[in-house]
Amino acid sequence: MTDPQIVLTERVQQALANAFGSEYADADPLIRPSQFADFQANVAMSLGKRLRRAPREVAQAIADQLADFPGTVEVSGPGFLNITLDPAWITAEATEMLADPRTGIGTATPPQRVVIDYSAPNAAKEMHVGHLRTTIVGDAMARIYEHLGSTVVRQNHLGDWGTPFGMLIEHLLDIGEEAAVAQLEAGQGTEYYQAARAKFDSDESFKTRSRQRVTTLQSGDPETMRLWHVFMEATIRYFNKVYEMLGVTLTDADIAGESMYNSMLEKTCDDLEAMGVAVMSEGALCLFPPGFTGSDDKPLPLIIRKSDGGYGYASTDMAAIRYRVDDLKADRILYVVGADQALHFRMVFAAAEQAGWLPDSVSAEHVQIGMMLGKDGRRFKTRSGESVKLMELLQEAVDRAGVIIADRGYDEETKGEIAHAVGMGAVKYADLSISHDSEYVFDFDRMLNFAGNTGPYMQYATARIRSIFRKAGLEPESARGPIVLGVPAERALALHLLGFGAVVDQVAALVEPHRLSAFLFETASLFSTFYEECPVLKEGVDAETRASRLALCALTLRVLETGLELLGVPVPDRM
Ligand code: ARG
Repeated sequence: MTDPQIVLTERVQQALANAFGSEYADADPLIRPSQFADFQANVAMSLGKRLRRAPREVAQAIADQLADFPGTVEVSGPGFLNITLDPAWITAEATEMLADPRTGIGTATPPQRVVIDYSAPNAAKEMHVGHLRTTIVGDAMARIYEHLGSTVVRQNHLGDWGTPFGMLIEHLLDIGEEAAVAQLEAGQGTEYYQAARAKFDSDESFKTRSRQRVTTLQSGDPETMRLWHVFMEATIRYFNKVYEMLGVTLTDADIAGESMYNSMLEKTCDDLEAMGVAVMSEGALCLFPPGFTGSDDKPLPLIIRKSDGGYGYASTDMAAIRYRVDDLKADRILYVVGADQALHFRMVFAAAEQAGWLPDSVSAEHVQIGMMLGKDGRRFKTRSGESVKLMELLQEAVDRAGVIIADRGYDEETKGEIAHAVGMGAVKYADLSISHDSEYVFDFDRMLNFAGNTGPYMQYATARIRSIFRKAGLEPESARGPIVLGVPAERALALHLLGFGAVVDQVAALVEPHRLSAFLFETASLFSTFYEECPVLKEGVDAETRASRLALCALTLRVLETGLELLGVPVPDRM
């Protein structure tokens, strides 16, 4: 572990134990970046109270224990410890990181099985912008856990079942399979749904047929199932177009829609009832997980079998959580789903615990996705008020990116590739650069800006480093250093780069990919300063300095490219 902050934490904790006894070994040394040194440790201030000694005295006692520390430790002010690392330590660590094929990223010990429920659009409705964020955030996390050596099981919990499918299948028969398939494949699921709905509301015989169709569908009638498959396959072909456009890693093998749990629902309910966790209430079979009450102080139910015998969203989720623990053998289950479903998931998790289906060794976490807003601060809509079609939105990002790079002298094909990478990078990075649970304003102008914490800025930073190597006639891989630190900008960049592995670990632990984005943004900013102040290829730069600076360029490039890849943001060679 090369992260200086972690190394320091361990060293100061050791010093605390040596100076004051082993009971102080776990105290947080409160290491923070400092204005006056690389870091400062603030622990003496709080420890002074506990030990009834002057904080300065306490700080000095810690400093005395750090005599062999690779750097200087000074007591300052009322009892701060200012810590400055030896340049030799930084350069040794940075040179080692450059030689490390994993660029300082560790492996999960032990590797885990992480089930990630993400994307999960609903068939029969347009895949909307809300699903964009869960798809992008979930996919980034899948990439990160896999890179750390864990096994990821992707679960695309498609909304592919329920009573609306009666009318959807009847509509399919009315307009003909071919026309229906063409419409669904083209992403016009919402129009399809609305047409079916309009007939359902106005045409009694269509309504009757639709209701009968629900029954034949639920009974597994082969011809009805065939029609359902025709409908679903066309819909999934459209979802796959979106996934391909975005470059997400979901495949058909990851589809585990609501329908997959049909055969488990009866037993799920029976088992819960038999153990007394589910009880009948007003004709419906309900779970009352402890600690949930409504506004009237009455226990809040999670209905798992309606009074007409039908199953719903909650029934499926109870079956799914059991399946994920027992069959998929999850250590950790992430539900990357809209924040508005928070109560549902808290109740499902609590009920599963109550039933003994979610042992302490397995964690289930709702990774809340905040709402996407329009520039007007309201739910994101088109000008005419309908929800926005995802594919059109993504295409617009690519088109706008194309306009931005139009006059850069690339041939048509290269231009197309770059526009695609920049457009998708902009959309994805915008989702990943702010915390997943905050609301977020969808704004093309901001996300496509080449300055600031944006996808294009990050891509441009990597392209710029690649162009330095092109100019030098060298492959980045050939830069080996050794790294030596002369001016402050070099030192600041190198010190920062050492924190890469720790940030990835933190992102994996907390499921907060925006922390990686922030780290990469800081990397690009520090690189900018370095590059302004430290000529690399200019005449007059001696060979040793040139080799060192090229190595810093190469290490920065590796960190940026690896980081963007982990986020799923494409990295074009040039821009
Ligand atoms: N299809 C749902 C929606 O669009 C999300 C499903 C999330 N996963 C789950 N296990 N409930 O809101």
